[in-house]
Amino acid sequence: MGKALDGVRILDFTHVQSGPTCTQLLAWFGADVIKVERPGTGDITRGQLQDVKGADSLYFTMLNHNKRSITIDSKNPKGKEVLEALIKTCDVLVENFAPGALDRMGLTWDHIQSLNPRMIVASIKGFGPGKYADCKVYENVAQCAGGAASTTGFRDGLPLVTGAQIGDSGTGLHLALGIVTALFQRETTGRGQRVDAAMQDGVLNLCRVKLRDQQRLAHGPLTEYSQFGEGIPFGDAVPRAGNDSGGGQPGRILKCKGWETDPNAYIYFITQAPVWEKICDVIGEPEWKAHPDFAKPAARLPRLNQIFERIEQWTMTKTKFEAMDILNEYDIPCGPILSMKEIAEEESLRATGTVVEVDHPVRGKYLSVGNPIKLSDSPTEVKRSPLLGEHTQEVLRDVLGFSDARVQEIEASGALGAPPQRIAAE
Ligand code: COA
Repeated sequence: MGKALDGVRILDFTHVQSGPTCTQLLAWFGADVIKVERPGTGDITRGQLQDVKGADSLYFTMLNHNKRSITIDSKNPKGKEVLEALIKTCDVLVENFAPGALDRMGLTWDHIQSLNPRMIVASIKGFGPGKYADCKVYENVAQCAGGAASTTGFRDGLPLVTGAQIGDSGTGLHLALGIVTALFQRETTGRGQRVDAAMQDGVLNLCRVKLRDQQRLAHGPLTEYSQFGEGIPFGDAVPRAGNDSGGGQPGRILKCKGWETDPNAYIYFITQAPVWEKICDVIGEPEWKAHPDFAKPAARLPRLNQIFERIEQWTMTKTKFEAMDILNEYDIPCGPILSMKEIAEEESLRATGTVVEVDHPVRGKYLSVGNPIKLSDSPTEVKRSPLLGEHTQEVLRDVLGFSDARVQEIEASGALGAPPQRIAAE
């Protein structure tokens, strides 16, 4: 079966996490992604957090599926020649170098356009134009600068970063959308364009509801925050709200049976207004259905601590899965706190290809997250990440059509580095 992005060729100049998540998605949708890496070391993540000696790390393998790898020294004149040839034949160049690095390689927008006016140049930087534009940025910096950290955690504790990689993978997702949109527009204009996604902007986009709350503060307290019921006054900025639900339906994380020893024996419980009466029945407080302190959502807001304490007395008598089964029978929105171990073993995620087992010639079998976006006419087949420089020869000969003599000349210049890693067994 064909793939949605068949025929699209990506010159992938990305490294670490943010850019690679973007190009991995494009590869899963069928684009031919040619990852350019520095000879010798390649993407720095190949060697970071290594768990199997001598094998590419999971950090690298889980972010670079379905790509080809070619090693080129972009600062070597012959290497530049190869890059320029690739620019002429690719549709999109994706990069997430530190600000200015692409220009320092001589690959300015003007130069790229002169080589290929149809080329889309997509970049991730930490910040957009402004006083921080030149700063290097990693995940947690973006979470802090994008409003996530100041609004995550408990009111009386430190700002917190979250485990979800909203700065890196989140911005990679934003960039991927920008790229396919630019490809779509190119169909009518015939021109390429620049696609820029700043990590601060991407995080802020995901923290949209907190900017909403910032403005609501001007009109009174945020009544769905626990702080309101506790009688603690609000300051001039959105506070950290612990595990309070971000929407209009109050929610909390509650203990379940076994919480004393299992750090994940918890459930997220939402007191959604339409099912309030069912909640009262389930927890054994049927009289709350008509009680003036509990019957209506507005009356409940100042009493959320009391309400959730009562619900927790019930959840503590059930495991998170038992509670989930009972609550779902009544359409009460809830979710178990799943550990990564439980997620790795979850059969339904395996069945949909969201968790996949991949075989790698050096490290053997490992688990990865497959494509979370399912297209009915473009199914994703997750293929292992490439070894460093595995496809250098193939790309020079088959994609660029270089003769043996030309390939030898480029090799002799040192632009391709040492011969690629050998594959022991496949
Ligand atoms: N051949 C030769 N040189 C190469 C090369 C190649 N194939 N690939 C990269 N390089 C060079 C670059 O040209 C650059 O050289 P220069 O500084 O002399 O111009 C150098 O490698 C380092 O690149 P840089 O991007 O600065 O890497 P870094 O490790 O110092 O910084 C980041 C890493 C992530 C902090 C930085 O790239 C960044 O801020 N990126 C944008 C934001 C981002 O994506 N952050 C999230 C990462 S998950």
